[in-house]
Amino acid sequence: MPMMPGENPQHLAVWADNVSFAYGDVKALQGLKLQVPRGISFGLLGPNGAGKTTLIRILAGLLRPQNGSIQVLGESSARKVAQLIGYMPQVPALYAELSALENVDFFARLYGLSNRRQRAQRVEEALRFVDLWERRNAPTLKLSGGMKQRVSLACAIVHQPPLLVLDEPTVGLDPELRVTFWDHFHSMTREGITLIISSHTMDDAAHCDRLAFLRSGRVIAEGSPQELREATGNLEASLEDAFLYFVRQGVSGDVA
Ligand SMILES: Nc1ncnc2c1ncn2[C@@H]1O[C@H](COP(=O)(O)OP(=O)(O)O)[C@@H](O)[C@H]1O
Ligand SMILES: [Mg+2]
Repeated sequence: MPMMPGENPQHLAVWADNVSFAYGDVKALQGLKLQVPRGISFGLLGPNGAGKTTLIRILAGLLRPQNGSIQVLGESSARKVAQLIGYMPQVPALYAELSALENVDFFARLYGLSNRRQRAQRVEEALRFVDLWERRNAPTLKLSGGMKQRVSLACAIVHQPPLLVLDEPTVGLDPELRVTFWDHFHSMTREGITLIISSHTMDDAAHCDRLAFLRSGRVIAEGSPQELREATGNLEASLEDAFLYFVRQGVSGDVA
């Protein structure tokens, strides 16, 4: 992807160039290029092993690329990025013996919300947002899988970050809760928050403003869901069809 005028890394939520990462011999990311504008929902779509979690961990400032460069919200220091963003891991990292409220409060403190009154207010807002305020005192281990995911989302948003990086947030949710999550995500982008969401289901993909198809640690196509479908030349093409089309093409690049 050549850099277009106006695509200054400072103005983007994410600017990644030639990013590579390997676990020993396993190449998870191979020269990945990505540009994510601010204020939209951006989907990272790809099968298991495509490199989504590795990319998300780099975006969250938890891993550093072994090659290439990355800027998140115009910031290249991983330590600073980690404070700026909200991160929801693929597997909820919650303290089972603490209540939902205590977990969210813990993350609020971790993110530096030191004023007690302000923190209590943010924690309440986050728990109300995911509709768990009534269950706030239940020990996390007593909550269902879907509820744990909602607590995990509340933990990621409690400090009101401008960018949220969510690793497969809808996996394991029943259809109703999936709709609720997407209602939440759409209301966040309306407020100008940028959402980066990984998924392996095309159901999620259709909700995103833009998508990157990932395969073998590379972006094989990028565009809006409609652009990606239209690129196949078949008006009836689904996003699954579009993904397979780009896999077969074996080309990387921008369809926009
Ligand atoms: N901690 C790890 N150690 C070794 N290999 C790993 C580790 N984490 C991921 N991998 C490998 O890196 C590749 C990309 O994995 P990952 O980023 O988790 O992809 P995804 O989230 O799309 O499933 C896969 O081949 C996976 O097996
Ligand atoms: Mg993953």
